[in-house]
This record gives sequence, structure tokens and C-alpha cells, in this order.
Amino acid sequence: MTTASTISGAKTTTPGGICYRVLMWEDCALPAEALSEWKEARTAILARMRDAGVKGARGILARLNEELRELSARAIEAPLATCAQAGLSFARVDALAKALPAEADVLGWQLSPCSADLLVELHGEEGIDALLARLTAATPELTWCAAPLVEALDAATAQEHLIARQQAAEENEIHAEADAVESTPFHHVTVLAREAVDALLPAEGKVLVDATLGGGGHSELMLQAGADVWGIDQDPAARRAARKRLAAYGERLQVVAGNFRNAVELLRERGLEQADGLLADIGISSPQVDCPERGFSFLTEGPLDMRMNPAAARSAADIVNTCSEAEIADILWQYGEERASRAIARRIVQERAKAPITTTTQLADLICTVLPRKGRQHPATRSFQALRIAVNDELGALEALLESGLSLLKSGGRFAVITFHSLEDRAVKRYFERVTRPEIDRPEWPAPRPNPEYAARSVFRKPITAGEAELAANPRARSAKLRVIEKL
Ligand SMILES: C[S@@+](CC[C@H](N)C(=O)[O-])C[C@H]1O[C@@H](n2cnc3c(N)ncnc32)[C@H](O)[C@@H]1O
Repeated sequence: MTTASTISGAKTTTPGGICYRVLMWEDCALPAEALSEWKEARTAILARMRDAGVKGARGILARLNEELRELSARAIEAPLATCAQAGLSFARVDALAKALPAEADVLGWQLSPCSADLLVELHGEEGIDALLARLTAATPELTWCAAPLVEALDAATAQEHLIARQQAAEENEIHAEADAVESTPFHHVTVLAREAVDALLPAEGKVLVDATLGGGGHSELMLQAGADVWGIDQDPAARRAARKRLAAYGERLQVVAGNFRNAVELLRERGLEQADGLLADIGISSPQVDCPERGFSFLTEGPLDMRMNPAAARSAADIVNTCSEAEIADILWQYGEERASRAIARRIVQERAKAPITTTTQLADLICTVLPRKGRQHPATRSFQALRIAVNDELGALEALLESGLSLLKSGGRFAVITFHSLEDRAVKRYFERVTRPEIDRPEWPAPRPNPEYAARSVFRKPITAGEAELAANPRARSAKLRVIEKL
């Protein structure tokens, strides 16, 4: 794997390449000494960006990093996987180069986030110049930066560049929407619709954030009540469906592509500093489960995918085919509370030694050989839930949203979260308790002390659950819990 000094060697030749180069590091499994070097570099860059008057520098870096990862996942990973079998680094480079999209000229080092090992390998083999020569020969239509290797992006240019790319991506999405065939309907029955939206007190002049736009069910009620809405979703199909459904509201709905773990940065970059309410309806939508190609369901044959964001780097098949037996067992136990986690993980590792596990039914059938069917629940239910949570880092994203959500709200603003299983609800309950307690007490203290995190009050004493009518109409609402707090 890479060493710090090799990567630093590249650094000395790229004095101006501040953003992309560091982002490339962020994605690599760096050894400890390189990590501290990287952290120092990042701090310096953030300081430079702040000095240049750039707001939300940290968010910009995070977004750039995500962009790089998305682009490399789309354009690079698949051909890389095909060519890796050839075992030749230059065959891999040619494949990378051919797969790069037209905008690669400004992302000269884009290939590196996922391929730092390749970069270093080439550096040692024939040198960076040889790499550039090959890339140029393979893609004469692209401009490769020779020196410095990374395009020198100062803070202001980085921001302009990012905004331009975001706009282009969003326009592409709108065109794709226009081209989309009518035959892909998006049916998702909104859970706790009235309860959640009313809790946010929507009204004309208010700005609400729907962090899980989905098919736009909650957003529609917010818009009908007169509020303006910013809707975030990481799934392009959901964004398209919501845009279409809510087109009549025009500019009152702003659709934002991205992960709600970065909600604060995503919204600030677009000019929204503070909102009157924030809703997160956690989990997946029905169309995600129902579409076999998305690979969420063990009931229908499909690729073992499970990514809510189809451009994300890691699918369920990647986990199942590359993680160690212990890692797989941990995932199944932690996120699925699957008691047979070890036996299932062992079986997966045995099977994948014969051939990769690539489809949903292949995995479901394999689980059935370990866990005989008992009762109404399919034996693969818990394992599929666990893999889905791991693929999308659902708990990590929820924690990040919880930790940052209040900072987005005005005083009196409300933060509402709907969860569907105990792991999520536990995280929300704990966080809400943490910030709504005026004081904390410990047995060893003589008296309670003020809670430094105290920032909100509970709106309901107990979580809100679905009423009988909703349960009868939508069994999915069975496990839904809504918790709401209000910023002081
Ligand atoms: C349960 S659905 C929301 C349905 C929506 N409230 C409605 O009424 O139509 C959850 C949505 O959140 C999205 N989502 C889940 N986790 C996300 C995350 N970390 N960042 C952004 N979107 C996410 C999913 O792609 C899905 O579209």
C-alpha cells in the first residue's frame, strides 16, 4: 500500500494543487504518520480558504470529496474491476483513462482518490510523466495537466468550479427527468404525514427542510400549508419523482442532491443559513424496495446492490464478497441483531470462494441453508436489513444529522425525526434526551449541574405512532415513531 513519503513526493511537485490533492488523500487508507501530515495540510487549506473569505470551507472540501468519490465510482470503478484481472497496471490506467468523462481535464488527479495505490505503483514503475503521457495518448480529446499535475485551484476558483459542476449535474438531472419514461411510477405512502408536518408548524413565510424528500409526500403538505421547502435526497429517482409531483410549486421547492449527513453544508452552500423546521423520515422508500434492479429485496431476483445513492462507492455485493468473515458477522449482528450472524458469515465466505455472490436471491437462498424458515419472517430479513444499513451507513448519517441539525434551526425551530427500527429510534431518543435536559446529575456530584448541551425542549412527552386508520391502510407504519424537539 501507499507510504506517506511517496504521496508527499507528489505533493512537492504540485504547489498550487490545494483541493483535489488533499481530497485524494482523504480517501486512502493512510498510515498513522501520513494521517497527521494530511490533517495538518487540511487545516492549512481550510485556513487559506477562510482567509480568502470563503464561507463554509469545511463543507466545500467535504462536497468536493464526495464529488470525486461519486465520479470515480461511476466512471472508474467498474472498468477498473474488469481490468484488475489483467494484473497490469498500465492496462488499468488505459481503462481508467478511457472511462473518464469529458470533464476530467479539470479533475486531472481524479483517478487518484480510489487509486492512490495505482498512482504510487506507477510513480515507482515509470514515473508520473509516463502516466500522463499514457493518459494523454489514450484520451487525446482530454486536457491533462502536466505541471503542476493537479490543477491549481485556489479557494475562490474551487468554489466557483464546484457550483458550476453542481448546476451542470442538476441540469442533467432535469433533462433526464424530461426523458424519463412515464412507465416508472413512484409509489410511496407517506407515513405519519399530518403528524410530522403539523409538528413543524408550517405556514407562509416559513422555510422548512425535508432531509428525506423521497416521493415528496411530506414536502407536499408543507408546501400546501404555505411554507417554502428545501428537499434533500441522495437518490436521483426520488428527486426526479418529487420534482415532477411538486412542479406546480415552482421555486418554492428547492431540490438538493446529496446526503443529509452534510445537510448544513449543502444548504449553506446554496445560501440557506437557517430554517424554521427540519424533518427526517429515515430509511428507504417503497420504490427502492420494490424495484428489483436496486437490489434491496430478497424476494425478487436482482443485483446485490442496495445503494440508495447509485453513485456511492460500495454495494452490498462489495461487502459480501470482499469483507472478512468477522466483519460480515459484525455487520449482521450489529445492524440486524441476527443471532446466526457468525454461521451466515462463515457460509458466505465458503460460497464466495467458489464464485462471487452477486444477486439478491443467491444470498437469500444461501441464508436459508443456514437458517431454516420458521414463522412468518423470511430468514434473510435481518441480514438484508443489516447489509442495507451498512451499505448506506444509515446510522452514521443519522448521527451526523442529529449532531448538526439544531445548528440549522432558528430559535423556536422544530426538529422532527421518524424512525422505523429500534437502532435508529435509540439514537434519536438518546440525542434528544441529551439536548433537552437542563441539568445533569451524577451520583458522585453533590448537586446537579447545568447541562452544557441544553438547547431544546421536547414537543411531545412520548413518541407519536400511527393511529388505527393509518395502520389498517399501511402496515409499513407499524414500527414508525416520530420524535420532535424545539430549539430554545
Ligand atoms: C422513507 S423515504 C422518504 C419518503 C418521503 N418522506 C415521502 O413522504 O415521500 C426516505 C428517503 O430518504 C432518502 N435517504 C435516506 N437516507 C438518506 C441520506 N442519508 N441522505 C439523503 N437521503 C437519504 C432515501 O433515498 C429515500 O428517498
